[in-house]
Amino acid sequence: MNSIKIHEKDFEIFLESESINKRTRLMGIQLNVDYEKRCPIFIGVLNGSFLFMADLIKEIELDCEIDFIRVASYHGDSSTGQIKEAFGLPNNLKGRDVILVEDIVDTGLTVQYILAQLRAQEPASINVCSLLFKPAALLKPMPELTYVGFEIPNEFVVGYGLDYNGLGRNLKDIYRAI
Ligand code: IMP
Repeated sequence: MNSIKIHEKDFEIFLESESINKRTRLMGIQLNVDYEKRCPIFIGVLNGSFLFMADLIKEIELDCEIDFIRVASYHGDSSTGQIKEAFGLPNNLKGRDVILVEDIVDTGLTVQYILAQLRAQEPASINVCSLLFKPAALLKPMPELTYVGFEIPNEFVVGYGLDYNGLGRNLKDIYRAI
């Protein structure tokens, strides 16, 4: 399918599952090298990261822990910039190597908010691993954003975990609004 309609909006194919999977495998290889002999904890940000996290973690050959948090912050097709609350952040991160896994970094506000909470627990290290990154939308520099699958233009995308008003998370490919 090269174009689809979700709610009233038209989308066209942008990243096919084959290239997403290929890139994810490479990110996994990089993480295996960078975290050799360590036991990182991967923390996925729900809901959007669930597919990326599942595929990424299958590439990880290290001893590692996996957790998820949920942040309510985004509605419709533009960021409200309003973080409501984070749920389920583990509270035993002191001295740990934390890898925060996101579907997309847009304005960066969601990740900045989580990073502030993580830092308070004094982990040994924190890196952000995001499948997608919209550099043009980023509001302030994010040095922790070490692992990026694809840098994309400032356009609304859907699929592979990302939704448009609740729909589209199940799509294998990623589509962009037209
Ligand atoms: P940020 O706080 O602006 O960086 O936005 C991060 C969150 O907004 C992501 O975790 C997504 O849930 C959502 N988001 C940002 N851009 C898009 C998009 O293009 N499509 C779908 N969701 C998006």
